[in-house]
Amino acid sequence: MTDYLDFNDDYDSNNSGNAEFTQILQKNINRRELIKKTAGGAVALTLAASLTGCSDDDDEPNNSDNPTPPSTEPDLTAKPSSLKFKAVEKNTLEQFSVPEGYEFKILHAVGDPLNSSLPVWDENNIPSGISYERRVGDNHDGMTFFGMNAAKQNYDATVSDQGLLVMNHEYLQRGDLHPRGNAFDPKDITEDEALREIYAHGVSIVHLKKDPDTQAVSVDLDSPFNRRITAASEIEFRGPVTKNPTLVQTAFSPTGLITRGTINNCGNGYTPWGTYLTTEENFNQYIARQTEDDAGDVRDAMTEHAISRYKVSNKASGYNWQSIKAPTLSSVDMFSRWNTAALADTAQEDYRNTINTFGWIVEIDPFDNRSRPVKRTALGRFAHEDCRVSRAIEGKPLAFYMGDDSQGEYIYKFVSATNWNPSDINGGYAAGDKYMDHGKFYVAKFDFNEATGEARGEWLELSMNNPKITSYEKYQFKDQVDILVHARLAADAAGATKMDRPEWVAVNPENGEVYVTLTNNSQRGTGHAIDAANPRQYSDDDDATNRLSGNINGHIIRFRETGDDVTATSFTWDIFLFGAEADSIPGVNLSGLTDANDFSSPDGMWFDDRGVLWLQTDDGAYTDTTNCMMLAALPGSVSDGSVQTATAGTGTQKTPMGAKLDDSKLRRFLVGPAGCEITGVTMTPDYKAIFVNVQHPGGTWPANQAENLISTGRAYSRPRSATVVITRKDGGVIAGESLETPKA
Ligand code: FEO
Ligand code: CA
Ligand code: CA
Ligand code: CA
Repeated sequence: MTDYLDFNDDYDSNNSGNAEFTQILQKNINRRELIKKTAGGAVALTLAASLTGCSDDDDEPNNSDNPTPPSTEPDLTAKPSSLKFKAVEKNTLEQFSVPEGYEFKILHAVGDPLNSSLPVWDENNIPSGISYERRVGDNHDGMTFFGMNAAKQNYDATVSDQGLLVMNHEYLQRGDLHPRGNAFDPKDITEDEALREIYAHGVSIVHLKKDPDTQAVSVDLDSPFNRRITAASEIEFRGPVTKNPTLVQTAFSPTGLITRGTINNCGNGYTPWGTYLTTEENFNQYIARQTEDDAGDVRDAMTEHAISRYKVSNKASGYNWQSIKAPTLSSVDMFSRWNTAALADTAQEDYRNTINTFGWIVEIDPFDNRSRPVKRTALGRFAHEDCRVSRAIEGKPLAFYMGDDSQGEYIYKFVSATNWNPSDINGGYAAGDKYMDHGKFYVAKFDFNEATGEARGEWLELSMNNPKITSYEKYQFKDQVDILVHARLAADAAGATKMDRPEWVAVNPENGEVYVTLTNNSQRGTGHAIDAANPRQYSDDDDATNRLSGNINGHIIRFRETGDDVTATSFTWDIFLFGAEADSIPGVNLSGLTDANDFSSPDGMWFDDRGVLWLQTDDGAYTDTTNCMMLAALPGSVSDGSVQTATAGTGTQKTPMGAKLDDSKLRRFLVGPAGCEITGVTMTPDYKAIFVNVQHPGGTWPANQAENLISTGRAYSRPRSATVVITRKDGGVIAGESLETPKA
């Protein structure tokens, strides 16, 4: 295979619009709208997306050159004082339920074309596998709306009436995806099926329009911006690991400059310069390790330790793509590269390094469809769930907070070596090079002093400066590249805290505090010892078979960097919320959840720029009572609560918990159809349309709510993952009711 070394030399020069964009901002928006005073007193230049959400401070004179006249109208895009929409009741319906006065539409579902020239999806005539390279993928997950400046065709975070909706497709519903339906068997997967599966993974970019009067959202099927990045797309490595001869060079790219595909894209992130971040979570499930003679792929002891820590076993993969040996529709390496065994004499002649080409944060510029996306290797390799950037403050570094979603795995942060400069907005991959290729990499350790009630944490540096890493016995690290590729091993060596499956991360725009969902952990109290940050071990009273144990319903931890400085190596923390059934015992339902807001297995999570926290569930524990859901919350701040006593097996564990929230501060906004996970959340900057994804619904959804469909599929019965947009029937601001004058 050839390395396209001369490909698009000018890929990183797409920053021509920066100055103009900044000038427009400065002309049209006075400085007090750009600068937002935070709860901690720090001054943050919030993302442009928050411009419409900034409430005016009345405690300083307006000395702008271009003052806006004082208004007597309330700012309906300010942070709501309380939640006033009627909470959606728990239910197990095969329906998507929203509050009274709200409505929803299904924008598109798996298999829908991204171009009007392609035939519509038809369950009786499922499109070819190859065509999925231009169709919506499966199992929609993390998602971000990027407003578009129509004239410049680039990012404008103040625009709501058109933009690019970018979303992940995490994995597949194989029994619903292929023509043979439930008769599908991976043991005899065909090339057409393998191609459909490879292309149904990855990311979709979809051009949307929103009518400013009716708020109706539509997909522009003729937009040149509509495209897919799939498990077969070419992607560049950047950062320290790029070109490493022993770790990332392959037959596809003997120089190790590029690789092929992104996979199991779960949570997401977005940068202040207007790019999308997708994550590579359970990549191990796709990778085979097979030799022709079945003798096994035997490597040196250190490599074996690393491979087993990343959970790749010495056999076929569950997806079995590597089994396609004589393709007629595509190249051999489309399939052979999924086998990470050392089969040839050198790493440049086989795919022994495939395992190291996944598990990264991938940057995608949705507005640049000429350049390759980029794997940002300085942010480490693990089962990346999510990646949330700290508040963008001019002249300060950016931090990227990340979770590794597996039982007992860790929370990480990367701190940029470069200070944020707003002129990099619309700087594309060149801005990514600046902020994501150089910096420090850390993992979190949580401590709690029961005597004083002090909850502190430490960021442990993952570098060759850390003696615990250089003296680690189980794995001898050679250099920083080795640490980044084997971040889990470095975090083991450093002594990080094993968490209850870190999922999404959210940053509070008011004060910079960082929230992390810890979805559940059946091993807590058994395989993983109880601690104050992961304090609960219990059983479910209604579960006669004792199927469930450990931390069944999950919790959300939050922390505040010392001095509100993202470069700090210490922080304070508490537990924001404990998931629970409303009727659980007090040592389990520590947050005092009620029927209006009880939930289980928090997963997706996002702060909108007003400071409303959106919380989504991916649950299998409380589904006898309710389907998965999304709640809205108005949080306080770290240390606003008190020390509580959690049920921990036969004993108890003290834990610092945030202030309890009543249902005016935490309430259920929607419930998804039976069988689904609710995941991915983003809004238009005017807060009038909110998007969520329904992943792997059951029954016949969305066909059974066909009146809500605006996608192009024909009548059908197979359940399909889909993107939903929710608006208010009166066109008002989502969850903004408390700021409105009551109607007479
Ligand atoms: Fe893909 Fe951890 O949820
Ligand atoms: Ca139960
Ligand atoms: Ca998830
Ligand atoms: Ca999950």
